[in-house]
Amino acid sequence: MKHTLINKIAVCAFMLNGLFALAQQTNLEVDMANSISKIQPTMYGVFFEDINFAADGGLYAEMIKNRSFEFELPMMGWVEPNSDRHSMNKQSGIATIMTTAENSANPNFSRILVNNDKGYVIINEGFRGMGIKKDARYNLSLKAANQKGAIKKIIVQFIDKNKNVLGETSITPTSSEWKTYTAQLTSDQTEAKAQVKFTFEGTGIIDLDMISLFPEDTWKGRKNGLRKDLVQLLDDMNPGFLRFPGGCIVEGRTLEQRYQWKKTVGDVENRTTLINRWNTEFSHKLALDYFQSFGLGFFEYFLLSEDMGAEPLPILSCGIACQFNTGELVPLHELEPYIQDALDLIEFANGASDTPWGKIRTEMGHPKPFNLKYIGVGNEQWGPQYIERYKVFEKAIKDKDPNIIIISGSGPFPEGEYFDYGWEELKKLKVEIIDEHYYKEPKWFRENATRYDKYDRKGPKVFAGEYAAQSVAIASPDNKNNWECAFSEAAFMTGLERNAEVVHLTSYAPLMAHEEGWQWTPDMIWFNNLESYGTPNYYVQKLFATNRGTDLIAITKDGKPVTGQNDLFASAVKDIDKKEVIIKLVNTAANAQDLNINLKGKKLISNGVVLTLKSENLTDENSFESPKNISPVESAVKLKGSNIQITIPAYSVTVLIFKMK
Ligand code: AHR
Repeated sequence: MKHTLINKIAVCAFMLNGLFALAQQTNLEVDMANSISKIQPTMYGVFFEDINFAADGGLYAEMIKNRSFEFELPMMGWVEPNSDRHSMNKQSGIATIMTTAENSANPNFSRILVNNDKGYVIINEGFRGMGIKKDARYNLSLKAANQKGAIKKIIVQFIDKNKNVLGETSITPTSSEWKTYTAQLTSDQTEAKAQVKFTFEGTGIIDLDMISLFPEDTWKGRKNGLRKDLVQLLDDMNPGFLRFPGGCIVEGRTLEQRYQWKKTVGDVENRTTLINRWNTEFSHKLALDYFQSFGLGFFEYFLLSEDMGAEPLPILSCGIACQFNTGELVPLHELEPYIQDALDLIEFANGASDTPWGKIRTEMGHPKPFNLKYIGVGNEQWGPQYIERYKVFEKAIKDKDPNIIIISGSGPFPEGEYFDYGWEELKKLKVEIIDEHYYKEPKWFRENATRYDKYDRKGPKVFAGEYAAQSVAIASPDNKNNWECAFSEAAFMTGLERNAEVVHLTSYAPLMAHEEGWQWTPDMIWFNNLESYGTPNYYVQKLFATNRGTDLIAITKDGKPVTGQNDLFASAVKDIDKKEVIIKLVNTAANAQDLNINLKGKKLISNGVVLTLKSENLTDENSFESPKNISPVESAVKLKGSNIQITIPAYSVTVLIFKMK
């Protein structure tokens, strides 16, 4: 009797447990037969801005800072340790900055006077040092005019922080006229904080300019090209577009300091150095040595887009300086040069080689057009002045080439007066695509997965052009690229994807930051002089971008989209070309969730792939020491009939991929 009672209790407990487990399981349904809309190839792209030393000192692999002595303090980046400027008599030598009217783009050069054999040297400190690798080759070039043949030899050495020599080469300057000399350096050690020292044999005067040093091993082996590891991280994302050159840098703190693409093409020597707008933007993060050499200019951006199979997406000044700064306005009747810049850009990118700007592209080594399809007019402008200027641009661009798709902007915030006004006016103008920016707390991203559900399907399309979850506050230097931010963005991105009918382009911002040279955080990729790593946010972007699909399909719970019920978010696509069905699931809860997903409408191969991105703590991050701490892990899953039973971990992003028969 007693025995039977115990058995009954055990059976009841088991049943209850089973019921409980059943109650906990979430049932989802995927309709593979019906495509809701196309997913644009541009759905997931990258936003590049020269902020945080992302260009000079970053992607652009030049290692000499202030190579042409054009910074506001022309010897910035250079030191003369054995020269006492305050004592004429004891000087071993001295560098004087000369300015010539002959080269208005690059007027300064350094006149080196070597007085004696007491060891006058100049040293370039690089961008927070120079990263050099053991046995790798580095290409040096410089322009020199050796007056009266005074200087017999220039010895060029890599030195470490203790001034030990790591590698050496030399140049024999043979001409009293300006002439370019080249040499190659190697190092017998890997060093993150190297510098380059120039020592002079002989006494007298030698003029120097354009002192440049690049690793030989650049992206695609291009001479004086881009940093390979950084481009590789971008290329691995398979981005649908490359937005350049920003960001606020487009607008400039003043109109004078706006980005002018024409000054960034042609021979690098003739590209005029400009102060970087992030130089003094944040008093808590001053970067007084931050300038733009424009060695990474519009031609290089187009080339990079082409290399990655990404649509080039330039953003141009619309005649309004950054409204957070001066907000200087070009009067409408003086807007013509700004408009002409847009029209000439179309010719530079797409024109035949016998057109004036097509010729420049051809001379730069690219006779084939770049097939530019998009132009952005203005960055984060707001108010009636923007709308007035936008209209003038739109008319001129469409008159020149009606096929160019124009991107307009809705200001810096994702809601509020500027945003509402911008959208209302742009909608009246029937614009094609509107750029929206959101830098918000992680919770906002989780709560806004339905943001685009109600957007007018017949209205302008959306470019979510800049977004990132801020762990503390917008532009706070304490923001972190932590796991909570990353999975919250992923939750939001399921909403972007579910609304692919409206949302045509998206990009996280900013893209890159130098470990020591940054001004703004969070950023998707962090680097120092030798290494780089993707943040958890990077892996979220990469998971979505590399599993973009071609067609949106429905994934539902009780017939409704999965937008945060029980902290679960989901989207689904199929890829007609790869014959795949891809399901993205984001669990923002602190507990694992059991799912039963019914896949209907297509026959699938039963063995599937699971990519899981997870971490236990909201504050977990990746780092130089542990670059893949949070990165996707692949496993297998098997269909049971047309169902998948899967447990998704707490705080996780999961991608399921099945091949269609
Ligand atoms: O991404 C950093 C800055 O944020 C961009 O330059 C600007 O457009 C935005 O305000």
